[in-house]
Amino acid sequence: MNIITKKGNILEGTADLLVLGVFSGTQTLSGIAKTADRAMGGLITVAMAEEDFGGKIGDRLTMHTQDRLPARRIMLVGLGDKRTYNVEALRRVAAITVAYAAKINASTINSALMNYGLSAADAAQALTEGALLADYQYLVYKPSEIKRRAKLTVPTLTIVEMEAVLVRAAEKGIAVGEIYSRGAIYARDLVNEPASRMTPAHLRDHAERLAANDQNIKLKVYDRVACEKMGMEAFLAVAKGSDAEPYFLHLMYRPNEVNKTHKKITIVGKGLTFDSGGLSLQPAWSQEIMKCDMAGAAAVLGLFAVLPDMELNVEVHGLIAACENMPSGKAVHPGDIVTAMNGKSIEILNTDAEGRLTLADAMSYAVKKIKPDAMVDLATLTGACMVTLGKDIAGLMSNDDKLSARLGAAAVAAGEAVCPLPLPTDYAPLIIGDHADLRNIQRGRWGGTITAGIFLQEFVDGTPWAHLDIAGPAFNENEDFYYVKKGGTGYGVRLLLNWLQTL
Ligand code: BES
Ligand code: ZN
Ligand code: ZN
Repeated sequence: MNIITKKGNILEGTADLLVLGVFSGTQTLSGIAKTADRAMGGLITVAMAEEDFGGKIGDRLTMHTQDRLPARRIMLVGLGDKRTYNVEALRRVAAITVAYAAKINASTINSALMNYGLSAADAAQALTEGALLADYQYLVYKPSEIKRRAKLTVPTLTIVEMEAVLVRAAEKGIAVGEIYSRGAIYARDLVNEPASRMTPAHLRDHAERLAANDQNIKLKVYDRVACEKMGMEAFLAVAKGSDAEPYFLHLMYRPNEVNKTHKKITIVGKGLTFDSGGLSLQPAWSQEIMKCDMAGAAAVLGLFAVLPDMELNVEVHGLIAACENMPSGKAVHPGDIVTAMNGKSIEILNTDAEGRLTLADAMSYAVKKIKPDAMVDLATLTGACMVTLGKDIAGLMSNDDKLSARLGAAAVAAGEAVCPLPLPTDYAPLIIGDHADLRNIQRGRWGGTITAGIFLQEFVDGTPWAHLDIAGPAFNENEDFYYVKKGGTGYGVRLLLNWLQTL
């Protein structure tokens, strides 16, 4: 899909589809919609009443213009409540538009900017993200569909506005929206790739390609032996059962204009290319989606895929402890004790609580070798987080209120929901080991997401840090939801970009 701008009167342009937005509760049309209605001889008003178009997000009203306007069809999209209108509403509106355009095979779409109360750049960015993410399909294993699509004209969405300043601002927003979407789509593709191909070595190859293609990105790869030398016993214990070689990946992005004040950030992504549970084997139904257990790593790689284009003045380190969790004669046993890179010993009582073991070493590495100003980890860590917050909201735990608030704001801007959860010191005894400093599952049944967060906190050594448990929002098992398609969602990439832009 191409997204471009045009200066002019949207009602005068030819297109397969003309898109205008209407708020809920609109009784009489105003502005462009009113003019369009007049040109259509009042048909829009009639249809609005008869077809019960309420203007809610998700509502649409479509009709042929029968040459009463230069566009072939006109669509009114619901913008929802005017008082709560925001960029997320606009992303969804764009997704509705793209879905309808695909249905009627429209290749030219003219849309108003619909920036009501929003900055023109933000609105254009949101439209772009919504459209591109909704247009996404994972077709690697559907060659006939790739062929069918290749024969179709690539649709063009044109944002048409009268004022030159709006058009210029919209162009900037489109450019940013394209970068954000490309990062998220990069992550989606990685998550959707089945585990037989998406191995730790494959993640390494992706990281190598990113570093090779940009001079501001550097990569250090540590293989099993190198990780042993660094003392990463916790990470390597998880990798033991698999035939796939583990890799620890350290990506570095340094901006061109390195000034003394720039911040040093570390992003850690959980990189389990498959989580069978190990000897503490998961049931079949939950293994169905466990190729998604590298979604945190995918967010890191998606971020690095677009970081150079953002030209931010921050130094970003991306860490991925990539491995596969499998049962075998070589696998780690429940009851085994390992020592993480920071010297803390851990009793591994459940081999399915493996993510925190890999993160423990990744975060110890960050503290020792990078000493960042702030560290954020993204991990599909606990099923309990979905019990707490449902499928769409990530759990946010942090030792730093300011960092937590900033990430919360970035999440709202990105339309990637988070909810703060506490890290109560009173729960710390729940993860103290009998024969080691720590145990990898809590005593008793309750608070699985929070106790996982408290476990991770043992490895940050006072670094300002935030943990995002993305077990729910990283993967969509249900039907497409606006621009969130089935499968990997790319969750986190746009949130991180929003946050990094504020530093
Ligand atoms: N990868 C899973 C968590 C998960 C569940 C991610 C569903 C995405 C969707 C994680 O490694 C895991 O197995 N967690 C266990 C921890 C338990 C053994 C303490 C869980 O949540 O059941
Ligand atoms: Zn697990
Ligand atoms: Zn896992």
